[in-house]
Amino acid sequence: MSITQPTAGAVAAERPRAVLFDAYGTLFDVYSVAALAERLFPGQGQALSVLWRDKQIEYTRLVTTSNDGAHYQPFSTLTRAALIYAIKKVTAYADGTSATSQFLICFGAQIELLLAQYNQLDAFPENLGVLQQLKAEGVTTGILSNGDATMLQAALHSSGFDGLLDHVISVDAVRKFKTHPAAYALGEQATGLAAADIVFVSSNAWDALGATWYGYQTLWVNRAQLPFEELGCQPTRVGRDLRAVLEFFPV
Ligand code: LAC
Repeated sequence: MSITQPTAGAVAAERPRAVLFDAYGTLFDVYSVAALAERLFPGQGQALSVLWRDKQIEYTRLVTTSNDGAHYQPFSTLTRAALIYAIKKVTAYADGTSATSQFLICFGAQIELLLAQYNQLDAFPENLGVLQQLKAEGVTTGILSNGDATMLQAALHSSGFDGLLDHVISVDAVRKFKTHPAAYALGEQATGLAAADIVFVSSNAWDALGATWYGYQTLWVNRAQLPFEELGCQPTRVGRDLRAVLEFFPV
């Protein structure tokens, strides 16, 4: 039985010539920090991990859309900033200003532990096998991520994905986060292929939508059985986990 569903109105597309994956949320489980967060902030681990992720993405949009990107900061910097915000929120630490030395004395150790964990997030269990299979089939693969190069390399290494991806593309090269078109254009530039010949895979509905709008074939990996964005555009396919990408390459 098929594990993907073509979305309503999807037209049969050409067999893609490459696959690009989103990293955080798609290859790596951003909520796997919740267990450590729970040990450090008992009763708040789940809330902290959700708040951290939401604020991180909010910051990427803020710096990309304000003042023509003049306030750009790399994803690692925004990830730290978002964590500080999330800790302040769950601990009700209210000095109303940027992180002060007093705040860092209280929470500096927890911040460093959680950021270190972010460099070794759990990969979803099926991902290694899927990447190995694509490699065995000779499909060109890559990551196209908001993450900066150092973070991505650390996460790839800790997941045992070294050497499995042909391209590791960071939007840091253009200082614009997804869903800015300059970020998605990097996938075409790196592979030398048109977006229509590439399938872009993301578990983040907003990212699958942005990539579809840009012109990629898309797979939305809907692990959490969420509704898709209600903005009048559907991804090419929807699947339950990463194995769904293999259906773009029938033997
Ligand atoms: C990424 C984030 C958005 O890897 O998940 O690009």
